[in-house]
Amino acid sequence: MRGLIDIAELSIEELDSLMDVAEDIIANPQKYAESCKGKKLATLFFEPSTRTRLSFEAAMYELGGNVIGFSDGSNSSAVKGESIADTARVVGCYADIIAMRHFIEGAPFVADRNCMAPVINAGDGGHNHPTQTLADLLTIRREKGTFSGLTVGFCGDLKYGRTVHSLCTALARYKDVRFVFIAPKELRIPSYLIYEVIEKNGIEYVECESLEEAMPSLDILYMTRVQGERFDSKEEYERLKDSYILTTDKLQTAKSDMIILHPLPRVNEISVEVDYDSRACYFKQVLNGKYMRMALILKLLEGAKQGISADAVRPKPISDDAQGKYVCDNPKCITHTEQELPQAFRLVDKEKNIFRCKYCETRVKNI
Ligand code: NCD
Repeated sequence: MRGLIDIAELSIEELDSLMDVAEDIIANPQKYAESCKGKKLATLFFEPSTRTRLSFEAAMYELGGNVIGFSDGSNSSAVKGESIADTARVVGCYADIIAMRHFIEGAPFVADRNCMAPVINAGDGGHNHPTQTLADLLTIRREKGTFSGLTVGFCGDLKYGRTVHSLCTALARYKDVRFVFIAPKELRIPSYLIYEVIEKNGIEYVECESLEEAMPSLDILYMTRVQGERFDSKEEYERLKDSYILTTDKLQTAKSDMIILHPLPRVNEISVEVDYDSRACYFKQVLNGKYMRMALILKLLEGAKQGISADAVRPKPISDDAQGKYVCDNPKCITHTEQELPQAFRLVDKEKNIFRCKYCETRVKNI
């Protein structure tokens, strides 16, 4: 494994082993205090962040390493028109490992193809957020002791909520989980996850609009913020932003051992009074995220090649199963913003002839 762009790149065994390492770090922090001595992590954040960037940075410091980077893309050469590919290639000459967050879908993937250092996707637009999933998984394992037999309710903005996309991709590996997707119809889970992840893995699921109706059946309630920054229309955001607000009243019908997760930041979708309920685990998730990022950095640096010469930094080709027949029509896809980026599609269903963009997973229409 080189970097981590999509959670699907990790097998169940690899996820388990990352969780085991995180547990060992929690139990024996001193053992790891110098594990990354002399190594540098670059955090390239083109989008706002509190938890993800600071937890990557805290993780690297706790491993004895150093951190370089920026927390605001407007201070980088991106404002001069530099491409993501070039930025990644440059930073790969300075840092041993890179964590990138970008508002453009597919940006960390492009960085990874153009840079010798492992690249970690710290969130790309409304697409994926694999390291939040690592935090979520460790929290579930620590609180519930298992991933089997759980009914997981995802509530809120399931369309743009990238943490939901990555978490249900990871949980879909565990055959006996059930999903309840609770969202207004405008913010439903993307169809590619339903067809190509959930149904393909034989996962039982329902979609509904009522949190109250779903509540009694849930073992995990994963609340999310309505992602205002991803909406094309402000009016639509205003109309939908208060769709779900979790209160202690609504928890009356929940199981006594249900756990409440939220990737944070919270706006108003979980009332502060819920924080006093022992089922609220969202601040535990924050702490678990740091340990999982420590485990991930260790794993990726172990696998990374050492002493690469700048001359070896050449872009890796991206193959196209569609052989140039299609153009991605997602305006938020990096193929619309990056210079001379080749179109690249993956044939995901041979029988139905379904192609998806390799950068942002948007399905090709009209075929
Ligand atoms: C999430 C994100 O950035 O996608 N936050 C995080 O990284 N913990 C969720 C959100 O912003 O709503």
